[in-house]
Amino acid sequence: MKQPHYILGIESSCDDTAAAVIAHNKVLSNCIANQKIHEQYGGVVPELASRAHQSNIVPVVDQALQEAGITADQLTAIAYTQGPGLLGSLLVGSSFAKSMALALDIPLIAVNHMQAHLLVHFIEQEDLRAPDFPFIGVTLSGGHTQLVLVKDYFDMELLGTTLDDAIGEAFDKCGKVMGLSYPSGPAIDSLAKEGNPQAFSFPIPNVPQFDVSYSGLKTAFVNFLHKNTQQQADFVTKHQKDLCASLQFTLIEVIMQKIAQVVEASQIKRVVIGGGVSANSEIRRVLAEKKRTDDWDVYIPPFAYTTDNAAMIGIVGALKYTQNQFGSLDAVADPRLKF
Ligand code: KG4
Ligand code: ZN
Repeated sequence: MKQPHYILGIESSCDDTAAAVIAHNKVLSNCIANQKIHEQYGGVVPELASRAHQSNIVPVVDQALQEAGITADQLTAIAYTQGPGLLGSLLVGSSFAKSMALALDIPLIAVNHMQAHLLVHFIEQEDLRAPDFPFIGVTLSGGHTQLVLVKDYFDMELLGTTLDDAIGEAFDKCGKVMGLSYPSGPAIDSLAKEGNPQAFSFPIPNVPQFDVSYSGLKTAFVNFLHKNTQQQADFVTKHQKDLCASLQFTLIEVIMQKIAQVVEASQIKRVVIGGGVSANSEIRRVLAEKKRTDDWDVYIPPFAYTTDNAAMIGIVGALKYTQNQFGSLDAVADPRLKF
């Protein structure tokens, strides 16, 4: 019988400390400690994030091992997020992973967080379907918005990216001016369900090639609120649902137009999304519609694997393990790690 390979995945790139155990591409545990501390500041405070990672990492790893029903000495390898992300946060996870791999005398595997958001689709479970290569990968998160040509697991070519704010960042910043708490993507999503997406119209930027831009739209939205609030003090509360629906409609339209351009130019209709904003119900609906109307083959991750999680780090660890792609103890955490 095949020897079980238990891979521990550790994720600490931003404000969530997460650990998961993967065995032969299946998830045995997927644990996360969310950091509530940032809510009161309306965004992630890097120094507080690193400190919270330090307090959370041991209990989260313990919980992941316990839920998987194994002990640390049964682990085969440790995969951790090398980047991109906040340097202080990455350092906590990478130092912990290195120490643990050294102590257990097992291989260490460095993982690119953005690759992991896409490769999460290779987890083996009922509600997931692994895409064939090549596919168009679309990462939609708080720090990134990327269109990627994925030729193989670790052969990815960046086709386009945001020139300024990421899509999740635009959700969060616009939510903040409406008085919603951080991160406000999920709140905008649920308020938008009862609003009219055509109530207000916001500009779609004209950006060449496959790049996108969100800061102009964000500024237009903030100015629109400012102008209207001067005339009607309770404008935002009165129109909150319509504002959320119209804003969400435009944020999604921007990326959908670019995905459509990439599909057209590459003639690859296989579209795989990942990252926190892939939890958004409107983008899920619009992509499902594209499947019907334009025959796109669309891959949307289950909710547990949209926002930052360690199962995605673990699956990349498992894929790299089978390809003998091991990391080294002197690898440096890289806040701007590229594909
Ligand atoms: O991938 P992620 O967990 O972290 C980064 O790598 O950045 O993404 C977090 C982002 C946040 O901006 C959050 O507001 C957004 O994902 N988000 C959503 C939804 N759920 C999370 N945005 C829109 N609709 C949602 N349902
Ligand atoms: Zn992420």
